[in-house]
Amino acid sequence: MNDHGCDECTKKNADKQWKRDFPIEWEKDHYVTRREMVKFLTLGSAFLVMANGVMAIAGRLAKPGAFQRRTVALASAVPVNSSVLFRYPTDEDPCILVRGTDGQLVAYSQVCTHLSCAVVHRPEEGVLFCPCHHGYFEIVEGRPTAGPPTRRLPRITLEQSGDVIFATGVEV
Ligand code: FES
Repeated sequence: MNDHGCDECTKKNADKQWKRDFPIEWEKDHYVTRREMVKFLTLGSAFLVMANGVMAIAGRLAKPGAFQRRTVALASAVPVNSSVLFRYPTDEDPCILVRGTDGQLVAYSQVCTHLSCAVVHRPEEGVLFCPCHHGYFEIVEGRPTAGPPTRRLPRITLEQSGDVIFATGVEV
């Protein structure tokens, strides 16, 4: 075919140029090349490494002062071998303050470490008990002693000022 310089010839030449630049047929167009795959995996991995680094740094920066000091109860209102419920660190987090038979005050998250039911104080047995699957925790350290739980209860750190007991943090 002769090139007359008309619009039609110019368009056909442009089509040929396009095909020379991208010599891939339509049927093969959807295949991803090995180079593209390696590039995708490399960039994806790099992104995940960077995201991990950012989260680690954010976690370290967030730790100091992450927990607010919050009033729990009056010490005089918690007799020996009794308990009081409270919420910490947010209003969505149920906790239990227990005064054992030795008079010591300890506090734990009320969320069972098995499947998150609420543990309760059983003063007659001197334990924290989870009614869902009969899990038992001792009071001094919050460690599981019977039933399905294998991890201790998160401990709420306490401070006392006069008669007032404050929660100051959570030790997992
Ligand atoms: S949820 Fe507490 S023992 Fe299963």
